[in-house]
Amino acid sequence: MGSDRQELRANAVTVSFGGVKALQSVDLSVSTGEILGLIGPNGAGKTTLVNCLTGFQRPALGQITLNGENASAWNAVDFRRRGITRTFQGGRLFADMTVLENVEVPLVASGLSRRVARREASELLKRLGIAGIAHNLASALPYTDERRVGIARALAGPRNFVLLDEPAAGMSDVECEELMQVVQTLPANFGCGVILIEHNMTVVLKVSHKIHVLDGGRTLAEGTPQAIRTNAAVIEAYLGAEV
Ligand SMILES: Nc1ncnc2c1ncn2[C@@H]1O[C@H](COP(=O)(O)OP(=O)(O)O)[C@@H](O)[C@H]1O
Ligand SMILES: [Mg+2]
Repeated sequence: MGSDRQELRANAVTVSFGGVKALQSVDLSVSTGEILGLIGPNGAGKTTLVNCLTGFQRPALGQITLNGENASAWNAVDFRRRGITRTFQGGRLFADMTVLENVEVPLVASGLSRRVARREASELLKRLGIAGIAHNLASALPYTDERRVGIARALAGPRNFVLLDEPAAGMSDVECEELMQVVQTLPANFGCGVILIEHNMTVVLKVSHKIHVLDGGRTLAEGTPQAIRTNAAVIEAYLGAEV
């Protein structure tokens, strides 16, 4: 991997579930070092697109590429091995384990010894500013810490792209802002690219370098936060009087 810029793309990706077209010919590109905000109403296809970009869903048409290489035959493990990692909407930790153990699990699963996994997990918690809760039981964590540890788990291992599916769901505005401060540091701190699904418009427009808007499985608009804020189609279909 090294410090070279990498690019994860969706090219004309289409996914159907029975009669429901979850995605219709969607193009998207994210590079290392940038945060892409993925927004759209419930059912817009955001999670389905993240599933495609991480090997959890095969596109019916179109393809996913990493640095131009066709990833169509890759499964989720192949994506993970190449540093494409994610959190799940409403994802849970192992309740009976400590924070440190929760972060060690994916490292051990990837083949590291317990000793090396422990060292890397500790280091990761430090870099994320949560070393202080390393020995707390996951079941005893406040919700916001639980989400931070979820992100730490995603970062445990190769990490070129981190895809965060509504990491701040259920948080207060203040908690959400706090979590976004962590998200904002990921490109500089870990050199990765980020896709962030987040409903709080003020927050997502603030932390993202670019925005992709889905509506009914189609791309409604894409551009800089400033361009999206003033995009007539987006305002009409989605933002309303909110922004
Ligand atoms: N596994 C599935 N089976 C059937 N329909 C699904 C499945 N996953 C998603 N859908 C449908 O696809 C559309 C897009 O869903 P999703 O990607 O979850 O949207 P979002 O994350 O933007 O809320 C919705 O209509 C949803 O009901
Ligand atoms: Mg979703």
